[in-house]
Amino acid sequence: MDKTYITSPIYYVNDIPHIGHAYTTILCDMLKKFYWILGHDVLLLTGTDEHGQKIEQSAKKHHQSPQDYTDKISEKFRQIWNEFKIDYDIFIRTTNEEHCKSVQKAFEIMYAKGDIYKGEYEGYYCISCETFFTQTQLNENNTCPDCGKPTDLMKEESYFFALSKYQERLLQWYEQCPDCILPQYRKNEVLRFVQEGLNDLSITRTSFEWGVPLLPNPQRNDSKSHVMYVWLDALLSYVSAIGYGQETESSKMAYWENATHMVGKDILRFHAVYWPAFLMSLELPLPKHIYAHGWWTKDGAKMSKSIGNVVNPKEVADVYGLETLRYFLAREMPFGQDGDFSQKSLIERINADLSNDMGNLMNRLIGMSEKYFTLRIDSHKVKTYFADEIKQIDTILESVKQKMQTMQPSRYLEELWKTFSLANSYITHYEPWKLIKQDEEKTMALLALLANILARSSFYLYPVMPESATKIAQALGFEISPQNYQKFITEGHLLESFTIQKIPPLFPKIQSPLLVENTTQDTQTTNHQEAKDETENIVNLIDIKDFAKIDIRIGTISECKAVEKSQKLYKLLVDIGADKPRQIVSGIAQYYTPEELLGKQICLIVNLKPAKLMGLISEGMILASKDENGLSLLSIDKPRINGSKIS
Ligand code: ME8
Ligand code: MG
Repeated sequence: MDKTYITSPIYYVNDIPHIGHAYTTILCDMLKKFYWILGHDVLLLTGTDEHGQKIEQSAKKHHQSPQDYTDKISEKFRQIWNEFKIDYDIFIRTTNEEHCKSVQKAFEIMYAKGDIYKGEYEGYYCISCETFFTQTQLNENNTCPDCGKPTDLMKEESYFFALSKYQERLLQWYEQCPDCILPQYRKNEVLRFVQEGLNDLSITRTSFEWGVPLLPNPQRNDSKSHVMYVWLDALLSYVSAIGYGQETESSKMAYWENATHMVGKDILRFHAVYWPAFLMSLELPLPKHIYAHGWWTKDGAKMSKSIGNVVNPKEVADVYGLETLRYFLAREMPFGQDGDFSQKSLIERINADLSNDMGNLMNRLIGMSEKYFTLRIDSHKVKTYFADEIKQIDTILESVKQKMQTMQPSRYLEELWKTFSLANSYITHYEPWKLIKQDEEKTMALLALLANILARSSFYLYPVMPESATKIAQALGFEISPQNYQKFITEGHLLESFTIQKIPPLFPKIQSPLLVENTTQDTQTTNHQEAKDETENIVNLIDIKDFAKIDIRIGTISECKAVEKSQKLYKLLVDIGADKPRQIVSGIAQYYTPEELLGKQICLIVNLKPAKLMGLISEGMILASKDENGLSLLSIDKPRINGSKIS
């Protein structure tokens, strides 16, 4: 069996997971399922990156030891991937002892080879990106060209990796392997970067301690203690996780022959330049593919905790469903490009693609099969009547497959959906409700055709929506498995005769947003301590005119009722000195009782576009702040007349 190794980035533990991390990890899970269906033996790795200055600082801010702190956050990543049913095989933590040994060993190999030398690093460092920069690379005010935050000027003893030595070999590799980095336009960026000339890379640090220590070596005679640069440490986790440099019998290094890295564009350079050079130095095979995707943005800005615009994937999955979220993430954003996350587009996708095209097809098939044939379906005559249709579907499915092999998940789903549209169009064209009166045999063949289209498509639906695909398969009496993929897709067999098991509609339509938008209470992460810590680094400055657009007024809560079927929401009336009080729906029910709220003066944004929540109109937003101890409404120092403006 073909061994295949897929890796997600090893995420930093300075931040709890948000929708961006979920996106990458879900894509990895999709790839794993896709290759599993095709018959490969697939290993999926994820994990956490726990060393370095950024983590050390984060732990300090939280008054915890780095180890306690990383234990806690690493667990949150593991937890969310479990809740998201990510089928990972290995969860690597870079503080794991075996991993540290692998890193030390790799260092010694590169050192013995003459690829590492001692020197002094003098230059700029961005702690947030854990990246070195020269002055010419920085923005005008010496901020980081990647994230915009201030950088530190540093000067310290350091070991260097002779990256420049590998420039030519890297360029050869890019040329010889056309699809080693996809999308192509990202590969071109990498190519230009390398062509401009590579500087040797500082790979140890002496000014802090939270890292893998360098082993003592008499040849080196160090006066200071060095720890490994966090990126050398982190990248090596891809091989340490499968036994590199360890004396274990259970080494899985055979998987390394066919490795695929999934990353965001922010960390492509580390994967496409530094990592292959390290591997060349270690004389290990290079990855087969590096796939770099774009960023999820919210209202046009990259989601990031310092801006406070992150979407919590768990909350989205809880209300809209995991399958829907997976579909949306894969379908909405063309791989490589950026995309904006909004409930509006999520709902549009659910209603149009899932409910109408796919769900409806399944419902129509069940309905007609029951009405005309008491749910018994027989495929014998499909090829007699519909050979062309089957051929048409198979041609599409072949191109569906090719789209995932070239990492275009959005196009993959677009193509796959053509099979559902075609099936729906066959219904319109052949009008089974008329046909049944003239030709029962052909009507049976038509329904069997639809069943077979759904069956075949469900193999490719499986990687993206495993539960829905499994439901379809169960309804049609077969199992999603590599063996059946071989039988139905590769060899082209049809389902034989079977009885359809009725299932409830797959994706009921959604009328209005299920999550509170634009409030800190419901869609954003709870890591506000972190947001506060980083306020000095906020990069998207606004001017006073932007602020003046927000009309914030003082109001008194005059009524407060729990919203039925919601644990989080209250329906409030707020008197803002106008003829009519404002109706506000707010996600604060877990933090205040109605009695505590009645008569309270609060701050209200009064010019927010009205939103509908659980069917109720909300005409504004109450300001609040949340941290790990809970939520607190903004109140004022001295009572004000209702309607007074805040400026
Ligand atoms: O960079 N949109 O970890 P990290 C899409 N530890 N994807 C996003 C995203 C967004 N807005 N934000 C984050 C590190 N991601 C290193 C990796 S690997 C050896 C070491 C995803 O926690 C995306 O995959 O900062 C991005 O590359 C990754 O999270 C960065 O995670
Ligand atoms: Mg990052």
